Amino acid sequence: MDNQEAVQRYREKRGEMLRGGGDKRIEAQHAKGKLTARERIELLLDEGTFIEHQTYITVRTTDFGMDKKRFLGDGVGSGTGKINGRQVFLFAQDFTVLGGSLGEMQAERIAEAAMLAAKNGTPFIQINDSGGARIQEGILSLHGYGKIFKANAVSSGVIPQFSLILGPCAGGAVYSPAITDFTLMVDGISNMYITGPEVIKAVTGEEISHEELGGAQAHCAKSGNAHFRFKSEQELMSFFRKLLSYLPSNNLELPPIADTGDPVDRETPDLLHLLPDNPKKPYDIRDFINEIFDRNSFLEVHAEYALNVVVGFAKLNGRTVGVFANQPKVLAAVLDINSADKAARFLRFCDAFNIPIISLVDVPGFLPGVAQEHGGIIRHGAKILYAIAEATVPKISLIIRKAYGGAFIAMASKALGYDRVLAYPTAEIAVMGAEGAANIIFRREIKASDNPEQKRQEKISEFRQTVMNPFIAAGYGIVDDIIEPRFSRIELIRSLEMNIRKREDRPSKKHGNIPL
Ligand code: HXC
Repeated sequence: MDNQEAVQRYREKRGEMLRGGGDKRIEAQHAKGKLTARERIELLLDEGTFIEHQTYITVRTTDFGMDKKRFLGDGVGSGTGKINGRQVFLFAQDFTVLGGSLGEMQAERIAEAAMLAAKNGTPFIQINDSGGARIQEGILSLHGYGKIFKANAVSSGVIPQFSLILGPCAGGAVYSPAITDFTLMVDGISNMYITGPEVIKAVTGEEISHEELGGAQAHCAKSGNAHFRFKSEQELMSFFRKLLSYLPSNNLELPPIADTGDPVDRETPDLLHLLPDNPKKPYDIRDFINEIFDRNSFLEVHAEYALNVVVGFAKLNGRTVGVFANQPKVLAAVLDINSADKAARFLRFCDAFNIPIISLVDVPGFLPGVAQEHGGIIRHGAKILYAIAEATVPKISLIIRKAYGGAFIAMASKALGYDRVLAYPTAEIAVMGAEGAANIIFRREIKASDNPEQKRQEKISEFRQTVMNPFIAAGYGIVDDIIEPRFSRIELIRSLEMNIRKREDRPSKKHGNIPL
C-alpha cells in the first residue's frame, strides 16, 4: 500500500467511525428529537477543542455474531476538550450503534477517560444514551460496568463528576449516574430506571409509562435521583457550562473567582420588609437569597425536590459559596428525611471541593410523626450534623428567625464547627418554640390560674422575650454578632473574607462512616 492509499484508507475509516450506526439511524435519532453523540460533544465543548481518545476501538469478542457487528469507536465518543477554556474529560454514548449498549470495549474506553480525568484533575462528564448492558457481550459487559462504577467511586471527592442523561439509562447502568455528583435530565428524552414498565407490569401488575416511571420530572421532583431538569438538550448544555464555571476542577483547587459587578457595600434594606412581622407567616427564602448574594448568581440544586430546604451555588463577592437555607414557605421549613438527604449530599460536595457554606436559618426543628420516625429520621437527620461537623471549609450562619433544637445545632452551632454565627434581632434561639416550652415548664402555673388561657399567653410571651432573644446566645459567645437585615450582604461578605484562608485538619483515617 503506498502513502496515497494509506491516507485514503484512513479517510474511509475515519468517515466510517464518524457515521456511527449509519445515516438511517442518525435520522431516527433526530426524529426522536435527540442529538447524536458527536453533536452533543460539539454543543458542550468550546469550538474545535475536542481531542478523541481510543478513537478506533472495536469489540474483541466474536460470541453471538459480534464479529459482524463491529463499529469503530464501539458506540461511544470519548476524550478531552475545553469548557470556557478549562479542560474536562468526557464521553457520549452513541445510540445509533447497537442502541449505545455497553460492551467490553466501550467500557474500556469510558473507564480510560474516567481515569485520565482523575489523573489530570479535571471534571468528568458522562453523556448517557444507552440500552444498558450489551446483551450479546454478557459477562464482559457486566465486568465493564464494574470498572466504570469503581472509577466513579474512586474519583468521588477528587474531581467533580456529572451525568447528563440524554436517552435511556436502564438496569444497573443507572448506578454510575447515582455515584456521580450531579445528574441532569431533559423532559421527554431522558429515562432512568432499574427495570422498565414491562417488567414492573409483569412483577407487580402496576402500569406506568416510561416517562412517568423514569422521566426527568419523576427523578427531579419525586425520587430526588436527578438534580436539574430542562426542556431541551441545548438548554441543558448552556446551563451546564455555567454550573461548571462555579466549580474548581478538582479537590486541590479553589473555585474560580468571578467579577460579578455587584458592590461589596450594597445594603439589603428590602429584607426587613420581606420578613413578615408575624413569625408564623411564611415567606420565600429565595427572595432573601436573591437579595443577599451577587445579583442573578444563584444556581439552585434540586429545585423540585424536598422543597423545605433550598440549596445551591451562589456567588458572594465573586466567590462561589454553597447556600444551605430553610424554606418557611414549605412545611413551615421543618427538616425531614428527604430534606436531610438533599442537604447533606450537597454540603459534602461543597466540603470536598473547597466551597464555603453559608446557612440561612429559619427552622422550627425536625418533623415529628410516626412515618418520619419509622422512616429513619434519626439516621437521616444525623447526616446533616455529620456533614457539617466533618466539613473543614469556612462555615457561616445567619439566623433570620427560628433556630430551635437539633435544627439549630445543624444550621448554626459553633459547637458543630460554624466559624461565624450572625443573628437578626428577630432571631428566636431555643430548645423549642415558645408555645411548646411554656406548656411544659409553666404547666402547673397555667393550670392553677383563674384564667389558664390568659396565663398561658402571658407565659409564652415572657418566654419569647426573656429566653429566645439572640442576646442570650450572644452573651455566651454562641452568636458572634447581631446584625440588622439591611447589612446582611455586607456582613456575610465580611464573615466570608475573614475566614477564607481557614485551614482545619481532621485525624487521618481510612474514611468516616456517615449514617446512610
Ligand atoms: C444490545 C441493544 C440493547 C442492549 C438496545 N439494543 N438495547 N443491543 N444490548 N442492551 C439495540 C436494539 O436491539 C436495536 O438494534 C437498537 O439497539 C435500537 O434499539 P430499539 O429497541 O430499536 O430502540 P428504542 O425503541 O428507542 O428502545 C430503546 C430501549 C430498548 C428502551 C433502550 O432498546 C430496550 O428496552 N433495550 C433493552 C434495555 C435493557 O433491558 N437493557 C439491559 C438492562 S440490564 P436493531 O439492530 O434491532 O436496530 C443492564 C445490566 C447492567 O443494563 C448491569 C450493570 C451492573
